[in-house]
Amino acid sequence: MNKRIPFIAGNWKMYKDCNQAVETIKTLLELAFEVEDADIMIAPSFTSLYPVGKILKDSNVKLGAQSICYQKEGAFTGEISASMLLSCGCLYVIIGHSERREIFNETDENINKKINAAINAGLIPILCIGESEAQRDAGDTFKILDKQIELGLKDFFTEDLNNLIIAYEPIWAIGTGKTATDEQAQEVHKFIREEIEAKFGKSLAESIRILYGGSVKPANIKQLMDMPDIDGTLVGGASLDAKTFSEIIKYK
Ligand code: 13P
Repeated sequence: MNKRIPFIAGNWKMYKDCNQAVETIKTLLELAFEVEDADIMIAPSFTSLYPVGKILKDSNVKLGAQSICYQKEGAFTGEISASMLLSCGCLYVIIGHSERREIFNETDENINKKINAAINAGLIPILCIGESEAQRDAGDTFKILDKQIELGLKDFFTEDLNNLIIAYEPIWAIGTGKTATDEQAQEVHKFIREEIEAKFGKSLAESIRILYGGSVKPANIKQLMDMPDIDGTLVGGASLDAKTFSEIIKYK
């Protein structure tokens, strides 16, 4: 029986200025304040973290960032450190999103360092992994995911990863309206859990939450969440509207 608490997260990517972010979060809190049986996270842009964090303080919706610098501080123009994220009220940080990997050339080695920085600072990392359409068509899905897990989590001990969350986001399903079927997603989530068991042991494999991301909407969330190895979701487009996202949060 799956005892993992559902985790429903919104990634706002590079949408919404501060005013829009604050308006949306106020509406979302009104719509979702009574939800207690799921962990909820919103990751606005860096510039909205502070005002949104002030509104979310002491609420059931937690704050996440979309990326992090692996350095503590210094001459790293344009970067944001773990302590800066913590001072805005962040509890979570998304690391290794495919848009960061593909567009901004983030490597598995960088991602590994970022996870280390997050864990050392007490932030909960959400490690994103996923294959492209060409990789899936070539039958390389599991090979790609294995590499991303192996290198992303290189040199960690099991006890470092107690809070880690993994998000499986097939690139071909992101922003395309083309969701993985529940069976396709379940097959991959099961594989990821088995990989975690092989590398870090049964206990972590049973407790780790594995999220699905890629064109999740109110119409498909329930079927996905009914799968035994899908513990939550990382939502892009459908998290931008408070009402739509609240319907996803209340999928039960
Ligand atoms: P969409 O829900 O817009 O497909 O985006 C998914 C995603 O990338 C979340 O991180």
